[in-house]
Amino acid sequence: MNKEDAARRLKELREIINEHNYYYHVLDSPRISDAQFDLLMRELIELEIAYPDLVTPDSPSRRVGGKPASSFHEVNHSVPMLSLENVFSEGELRDFFQRCKKVTGGGEINWVGEPKIDGLAVSLYYEKGVFKRGATRGDGYTGEDITHNLVTVWSLPLRLKEEITAEVRGEVFISRDDFIKLNERRIEHGLSLFATPRNAAAGSLRQLDPKVAAERPLDIFVYALIQLSGYKDIKTQWEALFFLKEMGFKVNPLAVMLSGLEQCLQYCRDVDAKRQELPYEIDGVVLKVNDFSLQQKLGFTSRAPRWAVAFKFSSEEVETVIRDIEVNVGRTGAITPVAVLQPVLLAGSVVKRASLHNEDVLKEKEAMIGDRIIVHKAGDVIPEVVEVLKEKREGLEQPFTMPRSCPSCRRAVRRLPGEAVLRCLNPACPAQVVERIIHFSSRGGMDIAGLGQQLAQQLYETGLAKDVGDLYSLRYEDLAGLGRMGDKSARNLLQALEKSKANPLHKLLYALGIRFVGERVARILSAHFMSLHRIAAASEEELLAVEEIGPKIADAVTEFFSRPETKLIIEKLERAGVNFFEEERGAKSLEGKVFVLTGALESLTRQEAVERIEALGGKVAGSVGVKTDYIVAGANPGSKLKKALQMGTAVLSEEELLEILQK
Ligand code: IVH
Repeated sequence: MNKEDAARRLKELREIINEHNYYYHVLDSPRISDAQFDLLMRELIELEIAYPDLVTPDSPSRRVGGKPASSFHEVNHSVPMLSLENVFSEGELRDFFQRCKKVTGGGEINWVGEPKIDGLAVSLYYEKGVFKRGATRGDGYTGEDITHNLVTVWSLPLRLKEEITAEVRGEVFISRDDFIKLNERRIEHGLSLFATPRNAAAGSLRQLDPKVAAERPLDIFVYALIQLSGYKDIKTQWEALFFLKEMGFKVNPLAVMLSGLEQCLQYCRDVDAKRQELPYEIDGVVLKVNDFSLQQKLGFTSRAPRWAVAFKFSSEEVETVIRDIEVNVGRTGAITPVAVLQPVLLAGSVVKRASLHNEDVLKEKEAMIGDRIIVHKAGDVIPEVVEVLKEKREGLEQPFTMPRSCPSCRRAVRRLPGEAVLRCLNPACPAQVVERIIHFSSRGGMDIAGLGQQLAQQLYETGLAKDVGDLYSLRYEDLAGLGRMGDKSARNLLQALEKSKANPLHKLLYALGIRFVGERVARILSAHFMSLHRIAAASEEELLAVEEIGPKIADAVTEFFSRPETKLIIEKLERAGVNFFEEERGAKSLEGKVFVLTGALESLTRQEAVERIEALGGKVAGSVGVKTDYIVAGANPGSKLKKALQMGTAVLSEEELLEILQK
């Protein structure tokens, strides 16, 4: 084949492939088999290898991932990418509508309702019909160029049906099924799991190497037309959605036109009811004023348009089955029943277990193995059994009774007076020791990266760590001999252990896992006594004299330090050179300042943010009040932000917070 023929065939192939890609990924109705499609792709790629200068920007070969980018370039958004105002109830939506009507002058407003996809907002720029550039939201004004990863999203058109020049916006996401499959593949390859579809999508878009993004099942819905030059006049959101669809974009099929509050409310209820059946995760409904001229009249606040609102759904509940009930032995010996579930995707993550708390709760709920149940996430984090669907029983369910002996060490378990939990009172119980090692290494504790459940178990079983004191005598040879531990992981672990020796006293005290000594109490005791030996030597009276320390804590602390095994552990820690002291509090830059956090932060976990604010002497409160100095608003902030805005509290972005913390 000569070059001319190759050019002709390549043009043909690009058109055919893009066409079939559109049928498959946008319309969801393929016209040829996967094998036929692969054949066309292979022909295209082989021809492009033979004639590299014939590769065009709209070539489908880009889907499989091209060269890695060296860094992310900044992109200034032509129009800022703002957030949305959230409402959480029908009443709040009513208020929002009233405010709109005040500006628009009474008449019924037409709206467009769309599901609020729980993914990542992106901005896409097309020149003469060809995809040129795509960027993340960033801080709303400047985002990152992620073109190299976006071209791997099969449902994103590389060439539009008309040669328009336009900027559009949409949401990149991963469907529920694809997310579960993705994580299953990761298990097979021994990789860490993604917590949520949204995290997986975010992580994929943030890669420098597009080959990684190409392996992730990314998808996109486009919902906004931002700029369009030299084409036709589009006057409403509804026309815009129609036009976007005509141009070849994937537009959400559940978008509808609505008139007035009642229809909008009904739409919110309808979509909420359908939520579970949707193939992707949504966290609410977005309502947008249809008329662009009315949108203009309503305008913007500094954060969000006044012509749109997000109606957020309340915490998700799903139905599943109790496959089994297991008992868990905690680090304090508490024996808790745990329901092993048929895995389900719930509020962004796969849930496989849900706590049944204790014997009393188990009895009260009358949960049996095989029962159908409803689960939700308490405080949106911990999976919990809400209800047992007794009417769905078929007679094959099996009752469960709590064991009389510890499932780990087989000693008899006891229920202490005034407690609802059963306890294993054997401090040498293997399950407890393993749990104590895990707790010792946890983030809030000594923060030893790489020491999780599996390794703790291995260390205990091989006799390398009989208590937390032994961790610091681990040698490279010991670790390298363990199954699944590579050279690099062994070195990393030793390094993490070494680093942890310098932790301040409060982290060590918390890590020791004394009953009733959480992170807060650990800080109070450390700040008061300043050294571990002084805490260990403190009498009940001395402990009780400390503000906020009551008899329960004082008793637990003295009892813990009087145990012979505690004394042994402390000796081992001291010999290893673990720091036993709290630093003097210097003049701290955030002394006396009260922060409230809302929404998701990107570069810090919530706990890290709290730690860093507190390290500078600041305080983090749970709710906004008159004493709040700053509210830090992450992505999708909650109702706290609304309250703060009403109260005139200073609002910080994540970037601004980081800047303050750097000082
Ligand atoms: S409109 C200024 N429509 O929600 C208008 N946003 O909380 C803002 N989102 O950053 C965007 N689905 O990431 C719009 N159908 C939809 C949406 C949607 C999801 C996200 C988007 C935005 C965030 C705002």
